[in-house]
Amino acid sequence: MNLILLGPPGAGKGTQAKLLEEAFGLVQISTGDMLRAEVKAGSPIGLQAKAIMERGDLVPDSVITAMLAERVSRPDATRGFILDGFPRTVPQAEALDTMLAEKVIPLDHVIELKVDDAALVDRISGRYTCANCGEGYHDHFKRPATPGTCDKCGHSEFTRRADDRAETVAARLAAYHRQTAPLLPYYGAQGKLKAVDGMADMKNVAAALAAIVKG
Ligand code: AP5
Repeated sequence: MNLILLGPPGAGKGTQAKLLEEAFGLVQISTGDMLRAEVKAGSPIGLQAKAIMERGDLVPDSVITAMLAERVSRPDATRGFILDGFPRTVPQAEALDTMLAEKVIPLDHVIELKVDDAALVDRISGRYTCANCGEGYHDHFKRPATPGTCDKCGHSEFTRRADDRAETVAARLAAYHRQTAPLLPYYGAQGKLKAVDGMADMKNVAAALAAIVKG
């Protein structure tokens, strides 16, 4: 089973991809996480991407597509994957179609998480993650059971993303509407697009996604 989760910044793609990974043994492939790892490592891709990401713009298609092709070729991707944050432009979607056709890999579902723009700003500005294991939290919607301690690994340091400042979030949302929203009719025309109400409680969103995966 290979899926794409589509949706604006803060729609819950990463949250739900992790839950699908745990429930169905699929592999989450997040181009945002891959880019942040490159930035942290100070690699040539990271050096190129850092300023672009901090502005809220998209990294060039050629860079992302090459990175994704390498990731999809790794052995663990044969378990089935969830693409989180890719594709983000029509040229990326076209490159993905070509890549999957060449490797004879099916794309089963493209699922849009539908969330109102106003809710996205609240979600993003309240988001933080465990600095040790990367578990995601939110100031209001998902707090650790013991304040200041990660539920998953017990670590007590947390980080917030550099591109989660209000002005950058506005640029990211604009980039979504301008460059990524055209993917909805693109996949609609292929008969692969399904929509899930991303405004619902996280558990209900997870249940709706699980129902699609189970068929
Ligand atoms: P990326 O890392 O992909 O960020 P994004 O798409 O902007 O998405 P987010 O990670 O912000 O949100 P999400 O939908 O995963 O939501 P989450 O689950 O965290 O990309 C970052 C940057 O990298 C881009 O701006 C670009 O520069 C570059 N980039 C990446 N991919 C690229 C590509 N393909 N091409 C070009 N450039 C690329 O949830 C958000 C918060 O809400 C969390 O705190 C969560 O707890 C909470 N939450 C989740 N679900 C719910 C719910 N149902 N109810 C209440 N709260 C919820």
